[in-house]
Order: sequence, then structure tokens, then C-alpha cells
Amino acid sequence: MGNKYSVLNDKTAKANLGGGEVRIEKQHAKGKLTARERIHFLLDAGSFEEIGQLVTHRTKDFGMDKQIFYGDGVITGYGQINKRLVFVFAQDFTVFGGSLSETHAEKICKIMDLALENGAPCIGLNDSGGARIQEGVRSLGGYADIFYRNVQASGVIPQISAIMGPCAGGAVYSPAMTDFTLMVKNTSFMFVTGPNVVKTVTNETVTSEELGGASTHSTKSGVTHLTAIHDLDAIKKIKALISYMPQNNKEITPMLPFEFGDEKRPELENIIPENANQPYDIKDVVKGIIDKDTFFEIHPDFAENIVVGFARLGGRSIGIVGNQPMFLAGCLDVHSSTKAARFVRFCDCFNIPLLVLVDVPGFLPGTDQEWNAIITNGAKLLYAFSEATVPRITLITRKAYGGAYDVMNSKHIGSDLNYAWPIAEIAVMGAKGASEIIFRNEIKSAKDPEAKLLEKEAEYAEKFANPYSATERGFIDEVILPVDTRRKLIKGFKMLEKKKKACPDRKHGNIPL
Ligand code: HXC
Repeated sequence: MGNKYSVLNDKTAKANLGGGEVRIEKQHAKGKLTARERIHFLLDAGSFEEIGQLVTHRTKDFGMDKQIFYGDGVITGYGQINKRLVFVFAQDFTVFGGSLSETHAEKICKIMDLALENGAPCIGLNDSGGARIQEGVRSLGGYADIFYRNVQASGVIPQISAIMGPCAGGAVYSPAMTDFTLMVKNTSFMFVTGPNVVKTVTNETVTSEELGGASTHSTKSGVTHLTAIHDLDAIKKIKALISYMPQNNKEITPMLPFEFGDEKRPELENIIPENANQPYDIKDVVKGIIDKDTFFEIHPDFAENIVVGFARLGGRSIGIVGNQPMFLAGCLDVHSSTKAARFVRFCDCFNIPLLVLVDVPGFLPGTDQEWNAIITNGAKLLYAFSEATVPRITLITRKAYGGAYDVMNSKHIGSDLNYAWPIAEIAVMGAKGASEIIFRNEIKSAKDPEAKLLEKEAEYAEKFANPYSATERGFIDEVILPVDTRRKLIKGFKMLEKKKKACPDRKHGNIPL
């Protein structure tokens, strides 16, 4: 990477740092861009204005007074992404390992305050060895000052964290409190306690990568929403992500140009298999509905039984939540519930309408789920949908069974428009399970119990395995054909675009955390 980007080398660093060139080369040798290069690629050309370039630390202990570096390990300022204002900080690992001193923290806080007061997103590019060890509690205080601001800014301006190097100890909690976290594969890691402490305390042997690398956090823990293969990929993804968001909670995401034409999509007619137990890819449904190539998936490798992400529909930015029949038959479980709940709350904070695609046989049964609090975690999704005041449209593509029918943005919990495809089945449970319970005696005493079960199953399916009984009650507004779905949804979101909904007068609700 060294030669390719050397033109972007930090001139200030070269002028002011002893051995600046060597430090930059070291960073490149690890496959990482420097902090300044990252900002250069992130922002529109020439738009970056730096703040606090000449700040230095104030520590005299441990010979630190002889090691003064302008900027103190973090570059802060503002600029534009696609002509929209953003605030940014990028930790500079080449200065004390990007460690966070009191002044380093002050610089980040200043940027966060400006972002909040001026209603623009704040993007943090993290690459740091954690608290500046030479500064003791002053650096811990600096972290807490940042954490506090993360919370004050939450739901007011979008906050995005890219982890582009180490992020350990309490430092992980700032990214964790921002809206989206992205990790670069192989060069970043996040953990509260590192492999050495893990070995001492639990006797487990684990590498940094296994413990807290991008793969771990994108598949096992869900701590990171996105991964990137290298720094430039990370920057590309941040730019794409931010394009779906408004500047703040008082604005809406700018629309892209769109002319309503023939919005029929015949390809949607052939996605659902004849056999109700056969899986299909809900992303094919998403693709068939949205504007071409606009799906930006969040958490693609975590809790894959639910799909969440942003897209454009008729030029409008929307959030999509969809059960994924390809994994666990689309059942809701602990992880998928929290994944979707967090996404729903983000969209609701930032005026992004929600489209919910339902094909859910129910909650995943089992001791694992119950002992890991599927009750509390499932309630998070129920709560998130119930409190959301953004325009909300639901489409039941196939199954909507049991409690999961209620949870998945049903009419009863405040959805604005609810559609179902003709093949939809909306019932307390599947025909077989239902018949085994309610016709148990009849089946048991029949000459041929198996035949009786089949007969009763058919009877139950005839009555409930369709969308019409829900439509008669107004729980579904209309049964629509797949081919017409895109047209209906574009019109529905247009109709809802000025939606206003009053909230109860309270400090805040108490989501079951
Ligand atoms: C001061 C630090 C530093 C730190 C690294 N450096 N971390 N200086 N405070 N926390 C310096 C190193 O001394 C070195 O300086 C330079 O940065 C590069 O570090 P290397 O070790 O050479 O880099 P590398 O091999 O890539 O290893 C990176 C690392 C390692 C894994 C991050 O440096 C490391 O383990 N650092 C300590 C991490 C740590 O324990 N931090 C405190 C966590 S507790 P020279 O001059 O040689 O180039 C914490 C609490 C936060 O953060 C609580 C918030 C509530």
C-alpha cells in the first residue's frame, strides 16, 4: 500500500513528528491506511477542514514532555460526503498507538458537540491501543466524556463507528453505543479483555482474531453490523450506509429522482414454492420490490433467519425487515429478535419508513431459546415495532403464525397498511399441529387415525390457511398479487409520507432490555 498512497502522506506529521515517514510506512506495512488517508478517501475532495491540528498533550510524567506530537493521535474536523455535512475523527495509530489521552478525548468531544449542535452525522474511525497508559485516570475520564456524548447524540444524529485497528477494554463501549459498527477484516479487533487476561482468568487459549476479530463479531456476537475486506472497502461502505440516512432526527433522507411508471414485477409471481415447507430466499422478494440494486444489508452474517437493511423504493429511503425462510425456516429467535429490534429503532429515530416482509412459522422452540430469554428478547422486537411512529407497511408473503404474527408489525401494534399475498396463511399455528390438539379425541377414536388427521388438517387449512379470514376482520387491508406489490408499496409510502403520530407524555418507555 505504501507507494500507492504515499502522495497522501501527512505533511504535518512529516514536518512535526520525529520519524514521521517511518511511522507511516509501519502503518502501511500492516495493510492499513493512515488516519489522514482514511479521511481523504472518506470525504468529498477538498472538503475537509481540520480542527485542533496543533493540539498537544499536557502530560509530563514518564518523559512524555519530550514526546510531543501535534494532533495528539487523533485527526478531527468536518467535511462532506456527497455534498452533505459530516463530522469525523480518525485515530492516528502512528502516535502512541492512537491511545486516548485527556486532550485526544477533548478533541473528539469537541467534534461530537459540533455534530450534535449542527445536526450532522458523526463518524469515528477507530484505531487505538486504548487509554493512554501514561495518563491514568485522566484518560479514563476522557473515555467517559465520549460515552456520555454518544448517549446524548443517540437518536438525534446518526453515529457510525469504523473499527480499523485495535479497540480494547472500555474503549469498545463508544462504538457499541453508536448506531452502526463496521470492522475491517484481519486488521481490527474488539474485546473487553484480551487473550492474556482470558488465559489467566478462564484458562482458555484464544487468539485476538478468534476472540474479537471481524468474523467473530459479524457472525457470533453481532457486535459489528458490517465488515470490510480492507480500509478502502470500509470507507466505501460507510459512504453507502450514510446515503440512506437523514442528517438528523428532524429531517428525512433526501429522495432520489423517481417517475412512477409501469411498476408491475411479474418475477415476484414465481418466488414462493408450491410446497409450503420449502424454503425460498426472502432477498429475492426484496429485490423484486425495490429500486434496482439499492439493497444495503445490515448484519448480513448474523442471525440470518431475519434480514434487515436499507433500500430505495420509488426513490425513497426505507428500512426493510424480513423473515428469511432459508434459515431456521424463518423462525424468530433470540438473536434475530434483537437484531431486528435495534434496526427498527434506528429507522424510527431517523424517520425512515419501514417495510416488513412476513413469513414466520413462529418462535423457535427449545431449552436453548427459553434459557437465553426468548421471552425478554422477543419482547424487544414487539416493543420496538409498537413504539415506532414512522410509516409502517407489512406484507405477509406466506406464513404468519402464532405470537410471531402479532410481533411482525401486525395491524394491532400500529402498522399503517397490511397486505398479504393470496397464498398467505394466517393462524394460531400450522394445520397439522392445530388438528392434533383440537381434534385429538376424534383422531384417537377414529378407525384410521392417520387418515382422520389428514382429513382434519385439510379442514383446518381450508378455514384458516389463507389470508381471507384476517382480511374480513380488517387485520389485513388487502390481498394483493405479487405482480402488483411494488406499485402498491410505492403508493402506500407516498400516502404515508406526512404521517404524524402523537406519543404518550412520558420521559421514556422501559424497553425490556
Ligand atoms: C500508550 C501505547 C498504548 C497505550 C500502544 N502504545 N498502546 N502508548 N498507551 N495504551 C504505543 C506503544 O508503546 C508503541 O509505542 C506504539 O503505541 C505502537 O504499539 P505496538 O505495541 O508497537 O503496536 P502493535 O504491536 O500493533 O500492538 C498494538 C496493541 C498493543 C495490541 C494495541 O500496543 C497493546 O497491547 N497496547 C496496550 C493496550 C492496552 O492495554 N491498553 C489499555 C487498555 S485499558 P512506540 O513508541 O514503541 O512506537 C483501556 C481502558 C479504557 O483502554 C477504559 C475506558 C472506560
